[in-house]
Amino acid sequence: MRRPMVAGNWKMNMTLAGTRELIRGLAAKLSSNAPIDVTVFPPFVYLFAASQAAQDTPIRIGGQNLWPETKGAFTGEVSAEMLREAGCRYVLVGHSERRHTIGGADREGRTVGEDDALLNRKLKAARAAGLTPVLCVGETLAERDAAQTQAVLTSQLEGGLRGQSSAHVAMMLIAYEPVWAIGTGRTATVEQADEAHRHIRAEIARMFDARTAELVRILYGGSVKASNSKELMTPPGVDGVLVGGASLAVDEFLGIISGCFSAKGLG
Ligand code: 13P
Repeated sequence: MRRPMVAGNWKMNMTLAGTRELIRGLAAKLSSNAPIDVTVFPPFVYLFAASQAAQDTPIRIGGQNLWPETKGAFTGEVSAEMLREAGCRYVLVGHSERRHTIGGADREGRTVGEDDALLNRKLKAARAAGLTPVLCVGETLAERDAAQTQAVLTSQLEGGLRGQSSAHVAMMLIAYEPVWAIGTGRTATVEQADEAHRHIRAEIARMFDARTAELVRILYGGSVKASNSKELMTPPGVDGVLVGGASLAVDEFLGIISGCFSAKGLG
């Protein structure tokens, strides 16, 4: 059985004191042998403090991004090995904000963010350093309205996962985050999430093999909160959630963790 994960992407939020408080607050309520993974992704500058606060707790730490080279003249970037040294086990790769919001602009003024070829290199760098990547994929509203959701997911998976070994894909996580549901309060319906997760798993089976598809964990992300988390995690193919805004408050995030326990029949 795939082990569920509840993950909190703090994005560019939090303070140093808040980092320690939030992790301690979560740890106080989590049993050390919890049957799910709980991971938080703080901003880079708080990673050391987060790792220290999470020591001897079941909480794991991840980076929000990495650069694929090991070192050199890449001002402002952080390597996979640096994340490891800061205590990370996980790293987000290709979050929609990195694909669509952060970066330069093309001639028409559209943001040109990270593309699949770069994300492919990032996944390989994460593996080389022993980090577990969470590859984020998802369609924009215009793409959904144009009935392009499955095609977009397929092309992001093909571009990101090309040349990766099936063993690597089996141990990584994929986060399905429809761009229109991120930070908007507009959540995908359970049917929409379930359908996208099935498509992703079927594509992994086609690109790799059935066993890899069976093992890879797929998370849903986009306006998840305590009140909708149980329902969203009910389909067997939804292995957990990647939470933004609602991961910044202890009680709300604990509510999402309880939702996971109920949805997966873990008591
Ligand atoms: P929200 O939960 O704030 O919609 O953000 C989702 C997300 O982008 C997690 O990575």
